[in-house]
Amino acid sequence: MESLFNSKLIASKNTPESLHKYEVKISTLPKENGWSSMMTLRSYQHFWFHSFFLKGAMHAQDHFQAQPGDIFLCNFMKTGCTWLKALSFSIITRTHFDDSNTPIRNALPHDCIPMLEFGEYYSPTGPKIPLYGSHIPYTCLPKSIIHSRCKIVYLCRDPKDTFVSMWHYFKRMVETNKTGKEVSFVSIEEAIDLFCRGVSSFGPYWDHVLGYWKASLEHPERILFLRYEAMKEETESCVKKLAEFFGCPFSLEEERGGKIEEIIELCSFESLSNLEVNKSGKQVKKDGYMENSAYFRKGKVGDWRNYLSDEMGNRLDNIMEDKLTGSGFSFLNK
Ligand code: A3P
Repeated sequence: MESLFNSKLIASKNTPESLHKYEVKISTLPKENGWSSMMTLRSYQHFWFHSFFLKGAMHAQDHFQAQPGDIFLCNFMKTGCTWLKALSFSIITRTHFDDSNTPIRNALPHDCIPMLEFGEYYSPTGPKIPLYGSHIPYTCLPKSIIHSRCKIVYLCRDPKDTFVSMWHYFKRMVETNKTGKEVSFVSIEEAIDLFCRGVSSFGPYWDHVLGYWKASLEHPERILFLRYEAMKEETESCVKKLAEFFGCPFSLEEERGGKIEEIIELCSFESLSNLEVNKSGKQVKKDGYMENSAYFRKGKVGDWRNYLSDEMGNRLDNIMEDKLTGSGFSFLNK
C-alpha cells in the first residue's frame, strides 16, 4: 500500500512556461501593497490574491478537471486546515496504513495532499487518495468542481483568531525570506485595518465564508461546513461526521477497537507538533523557506486576546456580523 502514497500520482504540475501568460494578465490587475513588501495583492474576481497563488488558481480554472469522487478540503488561510488535512487523510487511508506507518508521522499534512492552487493534480486514470486542499474562494473554484458531484469540506474559524494566526504566520514567512532585500512587514494595528477592509490573502474573509456557507445551504449533501471551535470542542463527533461525509463511516468494530480515538490522538496539536518532521522540517519556497513548525503555533481558541485590544476585536466582530447579516450564519452563535 506504500505505493498509494509514494507515487503521489501528481500527473501534471504546472510549469513556469504554462504560468507565464497568467503573470502577464496579473500584472494588469488592481493591486494593493498588502502586509509586506514581498506580498503584493491583486484583485481578481472580487478577492485579493497573492500573485503566486493567483497564477495557480487561474491555471486551475483553465485546466483542472474534477473527477467523480474527488473531495476538496477548502478554507481561508489559518483556520486549521493542517489539522483537517491530517484528520481527513487518516480517516480515508485508515485501511491502508496503521498508526505506526501512516505517512502523517513522516510528512507535514500539507505534503500528503495536493494543493489545487499549487498546480498539483492527480492523474485522472491512476489510483489515488481522492483529496485536494484549496484556499480558493467558492465562486472562483474551477467550474468542473462546482458543476460536478464532488464533495467539499469547508472549515472556518473565529475571525479574530484567524487574523492573529495569519499575522504570525506571514511575519514568520517574512523573517525567513531569502530575497536578500530588506523586507517590510506591517504592525498588527496596520494589518487589522487592512483585514477589516477585506485586504488580505484570499480576502475579504466574510465573502470567503459567505460563498461556502451559501453553497452548503444549497447543496448540503455535497458541502460540509465546519467550524474550528466545534472541532476543538467536539472532535469525536466531527471525526465521525467527516467519515460519514466521505462515505467511509466507522464500523462498530472500529469504534469499539478505539480507531476514532487513535486518529484523534495522532492528529492532535500536541502529537503533530511534536513529530520530528514538524519540529525540524522546512518547506522550500521561491523566496526562502517556511519551517513546518510555523503550522503549529498554539492551536488555541481565543488566543486573539493576547494580541488585540477589546476595541480591535469588537471592530472585527462588528464588520463580520454586519457582512453576514441575513445569511443565517454568525460567528457569535455557538
Ligand atoms: P494558531 O496560529 O492560532 O496557533 P492552518 O492549518 O489553516 O494553516 O491554520 C493554522 C492554525 O491551526 C494555527 O493556529 C495552528 O496552531 C492550528 N493548528 C495546527 N494543527 C492543529 C491541530 N492538530 N489541532 C488544532 N489546531 C491546530
